Formats: sequence, C-alpha cells, structure tokens
Amino acid sequence: MTQDTHVLDAPPSPDWTIPQDWDRYTPEEHATWDTLFARQSALLAGRASEAYLRGLDVLKLSKPGIPDFAELSERLMKLTGWQVVAVPGLVPDDVFFDHMANRRFVAGNFIRRPDQLDYIQEPDVFHDVFGHVPMLADPVFADYLEAYGRGGQRALELGALKHLGRLYWYTVEFGLIEEAGALRIYGSGIVSSAAESRFALDSDSPNRIGFDLERVMRTDYRIDDFQQNYFVIPSYDALLKATVETDFAPLYERIMAQPDIPIAAIEPGDRVLTRGTQSHATE
Ligand code: PHE
Ligand code: FE
Repeated sequence: MTQDTHVLDAPPSPDWTIPQDWDRYTPEEHATWDTLFARQSALLAGRASEAYLRGLDVLKLSKPGIPDFAELSERLMKLTGWQVVAVPGLVPDDVFFDHMANRRFVAGNFIRRPDQLDYIQEPDVFHDVFGHVPMLADPVFADYLEAYGRGGQRALELGALKHLGRLYWYTVEFGLIEEAGALRIYGSGIVSSAAESRFALDSDSPNRIGFDLERVMRTDYRIDDFQQNYFVIPSYDALLKATVETDFAPLYERIMAQPDIPIAAIEPGDRVLTRGTQSHATE
C-alpha cells in the first residue's frame, strides 16, 4: 500500500531489506496463503484485467504455499527485469521510491493471522505479492512503476508527495480499466480483497470516473472502507503516456493553488461512467 507509517524506528539494514526467511513460515502460514489464493483466484476470473490474470499464470503464483521471493524474482527478472525484496513492513518514502526506481518491489514478509483473512491494516505478503506482483509481469505496467519511483523521488524534493500519492492510490492500489467494453480491476487493493473485488465492479454505491491525471491528484481518498470513487483507465499505454510524458512540476504548482476535491464529489469536467448512490458510504 502506501508508505505513511513505519513499523521500525531503525532500519534493519541500510536499504531496509531483510531476508525473507522462507524456511521459517509454518504450515499454518502457508495454509493461510492457500486459502486466500483459492478464494481470490476463483473470484477474479472475469473480473481482473487480462494483464493481471496473465501475470498470475506466468509467475506460477498458484503453486501451493507462500511464494519464495528468490524463485519469484527469477521469473520476474526474465520477463520485465523486476525483483521482489522482503521488508519488515512499511518503509520510509525515500527508501520505497529508491527500490521502485531500480525495479525492486518491496514486499512485507509476514502473513496475516487466520482471523484477519478479510481485512488487515498493514500490507502483508498476500497483499503485496498476490495483489501487486502479477502486474509487474506486464511490460508497460512495469515501466509505469519504475517511472513512478523516480517521480516519487522528485515529488519528495518538490513537497508534492500528497498529490503524487493519490495517483498511486487511484491507479496501482484501486485502479479499474476498460477492456473489451467492460470494466475490469487491476488495483492491488481490490484484487487482494474478496469483498472489494465484488464491490468495485458490482455495487451501485461508488462513482466510476474516467481517469484524468490532474483530477486524480486533486482527489482525497479513504483508507478505512471501500472506495467511494474509482478511476478508469482506457489502457496501460494511455496511463504510461499520460504520466511519463508530463512534467509534474508545473502540475503540482497548479494543483497546490486549488482546493482538494472532496472524496465523493463529481466535478464539471468528469467523464462519469457510473454516478454512485453512495449508499454504502459511512461518514
Ligand atoms: N512525469 C513525472 C514527473 O515529472 C514522473 C512520473 C512518471 C510520475 C510516471 C508517476 C508516474 O515527476
Ligand atoms: Fe499496496
């Protein structure tokens, strides 16, 4: 997920990585992965983006048990040059961006407890690996995330992290895409959640709005419940083009001079695919 809180005060190593210690997972922990995997993969056929489903397949994530990052990285490296490295939990922003800009995806190595199957506050190995890693097997999305890492380093210097973070939230974490005339999910926060993978596509509560870079970077989000807005990209190429070919510095300046857009508001220029009832939304 994003990177606002830190688990540790002192880095466990200079770049915050730790050994995954794959041999230390218990049979119960592997079984938790298998339970989550079976539930989500059944739900995602027909709901997740083709690129996501392809990634799940080519990376052999269906193999029983928590994936071994070394083995996973070997497959991923051949496909797009990315690796997966273990960290204890959320890491500082500059560390997160440095790894990403160098095609290293940081993943929590712990797995949720059996009583947390439906919801956890902090990203665990299921969210990070099942949710994020399949998209890294897609060459265009792989380029997008690397560029995002560099964009993060720049946003830190420009004091624009809040705005850039919203782009991550509404694409990498909670993005929808239009494929063959239908909506599909690709955001990791949706694909790793049984409830939200239904809600994001089926519920009449949320707004679904065409992706617009500046609009997204002005929009607040909630971290405590299903999203009230989803932004829909037409293709990964379009997302990459809209972000890589735009200099964000003047954009940040313009955005900072304007008010934020409240979570569920519809704006005059929006391409509204579905206007939500917001019946699910709580205060
Ligand atoms: N073009 C952005 C900038 O000028 C960097 C970026 C690329 C950010 C891709 C996000 C995704 O800062
Ligand atoms: Fe995440």
